[in-house]
Amino acid sequence: MSEVKNVSIHGQWSSRWAFILAATGSAVGLGNIWKFPYITGEYGGGAFVLVYLVSVALIGIPIMMAEVMLGRRGRQSPINTMRYLAKAEGRHGIWSWIGWMGVLAGFLILSYYSVIAGWALAYVFRTGSGAIQAVGSAGIRNIFTELVSDPERLLAWHTIFMVMTMVVVARGVKNGLETAVRYLMPALLILLLILVGYAMNTGHFYEAVDFLFKPDFSKLTGGAILTAMGHAFFTLSLGMGAIMVYGSYLPDNASIARTSIIISIADTAVALLAGLAIFPIVFSFPELSPGAGPGLIFQTLPMAFAQMPGGLIFGTLFFILIVVAAWTSSISLIEPAVAWLIENRGMTRIMAAVWCGVATWLVGIATVLSFSKWAFDFNFLGTVKHNGVFDILDILTANIMLPAGGFLIAIFAGWMMKEKHSREELALGYSYTVWQFLIKYIAPALVLVVILNLFEVI
Ligand code: PFF
Repeated sequence: MSEVKNVSIHGQWSSRWAFILAATGSAVGLGNIWKFPYITGEYGGGAFVLVYLVSVALIGIPIMMAEVMLGRRGRQSPINTMRYLAKAEGRHGIWSWIGWMGVLAGFLILSYYSVIAGWALAYVFRTGSGAIQAVGSAGIRNIFTELVSDPERLLAWHTIFMVMTMVVVARGVKNGLETAVRYLMPALLILLLILVGYAMNTGHFYEAVDFLFKPDFSKLTGGAILTAMGHAFFTLSLGMGAIMVYGSYLPDNASIARTSIIISIADTAVALLAGLAIFPIVFSFPELSPGAGPGLIFQTLPMAFAQMPGGLIFGTLFFILIVVAAWTSSISLIEPAVAWLIENRGMTRIMAAVWCGVATWLVGIATVLSFSKWAFDFNFLGTVKHNGVFDILDILTANIMLPAGGFLIAIFAGWMMKEKHSREELALGYSYTVWQFLIKYIAPALVLVVILNLFEVI
C-alpha cells in the first residue's frame, strides 16, 4: 500500500510545464539582468563568473531538487512543510525554523527588490518618452543620479510595484502568474538576444567575452567567492522556501530532476546573455566603469537604446520586460509567508497579501533612503560599497541567510530524511546516488568552506 499523499489547500499547477514556467519566472529576475552584471563588474569578471557557475552546478541544482522534493512531500507552506516532515521523519520540530528564516529572508529581499523594480518602472517612462534619446551620454547618467537621489519619487515607484505584486498574489499564484510567464519570458529572451546582437557590433564584444570568461584568480577575494556563491542561491531563488512552496503545488508525476535542471539552465543562460549585452557597451564608453555598482544597467543600456535604430521601442519594451521579470520573482518571495498566514491564521488570500504587502512596503523605505539620506560607504571584505542600508540588506540576505537556509535544507534532505523517502519522491533510478552524494557531502561542504574562509578573512 502506498501512503496517502498530502494535497495542497492552495491548489496545484496545471502541469509540469506550468511549474517550470513559474519557477523559471521566480528564478529569472533582477538577479539576472541587474545584479549579475553589476556584481560581476565589482568583483572583476571571469574568476567570479566561474565560481558562480560552479556553485550553480554543484550546490544550486542539488539544493533546488531538495527544495522541490520537500515542498511536494509536505504540500504546505515551508514552515508547515518542514514541521510536518520533521515529525514524519522522527526529527525535532526545530527544523521548521528553516521555514521561519525563509519567511524573514523573503520579506527583507522583497523590501529592496521592489525599490529596484521601481527604478525599472521609472525607466519604462524615461525611455518611452524619448527623454533618453534627447540628452547624450552625460545626460543619461544624470537621469539616473537624479532618480535615485529623490526619495519621494522612489517611494512612489516602490509603492506602485508593491501594489502590482500584491494584486497577483491576492488572485492566487495560478491565475495571475501562469499566463504572464508563458508569454513574457520568451519575449524577454528575444529582446535580450537583440541587445546581444547590437553589443556584438560595438567593437568591444570580445573584450566583454574576455572579461566574463577569462578568469584572473588574483581578483578572487573571500568577499568575491562568498558573493558568487550567494548569488547562485539568489538567482535560483534557493534557500528561503520560494522553490519549496512552488514545489508544493507540483503534480505528483513530474520529474523533479529534469524540471530543476531546465530551470537552472534557463536562469544561467539569461544571466550570461545579460552580461554579453551589457559589458560591450560599458567598454565602448570610457566614462562607464564595470564597477559602477547597482546603477550599471540603468546607465549602460540607455546608451545603447539612445543610439540604435528603433531604440525607443526596444528600450521601452526591454524595461517593461525587466519589470515583468521582477514581478514574477517578487510573487515567489512573498508566497511562503502568504501561504502560512492562510494556513495558520485562517486569513483569506487577499488579507494575507495585504498584510504582507504593507509590512514589506514599510521595510522598503530603508532602501529608498539608502541612495540619498541614508547612503554611506563601507568596506565589505575588500570591496567598497556605497549604499549603506541597501547593501547591508543585500549582503545579509543573499550572502548569509540564503546560503545558511540552503545548507540546512541540504542537511535535512541528505541526512535527516530516510533514504527510502527521498528515493521514492525523486524517482531517479541510478542517478539518485549522484544527487545523494552532492546533497550529503559536496553542497554542504562547499557552503561551509566558503563561510569558514570568510571568517579567516575577517
Ligand atoms: N531569483 C530572483 C532573481 O534572480 O531576481 C530573486 C529571488 C526570488 C530570490 C525569489 C529569492 C527568492 F526566493
